[in-house]
Amino acid sequence: MKFSEIESIEDQYQVATYKKMGIAVERGSGSWVWTSDGEKYLDLYGGHAVCATGHSHPSVVKAIQDQAEKVLFYSNLVYSETRAVAAKKLVSVAPSGLTKAFFCNSGTEANENAMRMARMATGREKIITFTGGFHGRTADSISATFLGKYRDIGKPNVPGHVAAKFGNIAGLEVIANSEIAAIMLEPIQSMAGVREVEPEYFTSLRRICDDNGILLIFDEVQTGIGRTGSWFFSGSEPANGVVPDIITLAKSLGSGIPVGGCLVSDQVAEGIKVNDLGTTFGGGMLAMAAVSATLDAIEADDMVANARRVEGHLRDSLAGKKNVIAVHGKGCLLGIEFDQPCLAFHSKLLENKIITGTSSDPNILRLLPPLCVTTDEIDLFVEVLSN
Ligand SMILES: Cc1ncc(COP(=O)(O)O)c(C=O)c1O
Repeated sequence: MKFSEIESIEDQYQVATYKKMGIAVERGSGSWVWTSDGEKYLDLYGGHAVCATGHSHPSVVKAIQDQAEKVLFYSNLVYSETRAVAAKKLVSVAPSGLTKAFFCNSGTEANENAMRMARMATGREKIITFTGGFHGRTADSISATFLGKYRDIGKPNVPGHVAAKFGNIAGLEVIANSEIAAIMLEPIQSMAGVREVEPEYFTSLRRICDDNGILLIFDEVQTGIGRTGSWFFSGSEPANGVVPDIITLAKSLGSGIPVGGCLVSDQVAEGIKVNDLGTTFGGGMLAMAAVSATLDAIEADDMVANARRVEGHLRDSLAGKKNVIAVHGKGCLLGIEFDQPCLAFHSKLLENKIITGTSSDPNILRLLPPLCVTTDEIDLFVEVLSN
């Protein structure tokens, strides 16, 4: 089908969601996608921060194909070797202290379940989250989202959510008390414009949580699975080594097969009894095959180190470039701050067949490329920006 036909059918038969780019993606490989009109695009938005291993990584595709031929699905009502291997593999790369996995289907579900586990573990109801954080669109997660218009979309909001200012410890000290079950945050606020805080901030967060019997949750839906140049932001140098009680995951976890998850400490897991949590699809075999293959591919191709390399190369290449004020973020989660709204640069890049992302900060252009993106591919981006 020609693009114009696809566009008109989709717009007629699908409820509106995002503002779409004017292309229809037909296939992908590595950092590249091909459109219905046979055009090739460099995807520095990584299929919405999802395709960490690159588009259709051969070993991930093979693992999915092999699993599909054996059995597509059975729920957590039965045991599965594929699930056992995936859970063990995910825990093996997790920061020490996080010893068990819970699988669901998306980022918002991961956060809902994390908040529920925190409430179960502490017997408390309230959750503190931060201005600028985004946690998803289902009821509890959107109520935890204090970013622009999103919380209002979720009205009436779930009670028990308290907002704190990202980066401000003094303000947090005032509201952290024995009524709070958890403090949850995106350790790098991606959608808000790749906003970062100093590593010491995480040490203070950990201290406040420990002093008040509060659990700490890192929403690593974007930062997890190698994206920031370590397997997880949790426990890394930019986190000052701080490990939360729960990490939530989705996006990169299955290379594009929908899967979300939580990594939890023994203490949190002990609070969960049979039948407290559940989801029909979470932990299904196809998704679990994708998780193991994703983690294996990232390891085999040394993609975590590549994410760091690419960040360094981009920073060097953009140093002193016209219109560029700063580069925010880590690894393959980067926000380029311009001295003016970035929309014109975003459009120019798209005209030159390079896909990038915007953010809720008009001046910040976001890059969330596959972790296998090369420095040569980054050079193509820099060249278009420079002309
Ligand atoms: C940090 C963060 N948390 C949660 C979510 C929600 O994930 P999902 O869209 O898979 O529900 C997103 C989605 O963009 C996200 O960026």
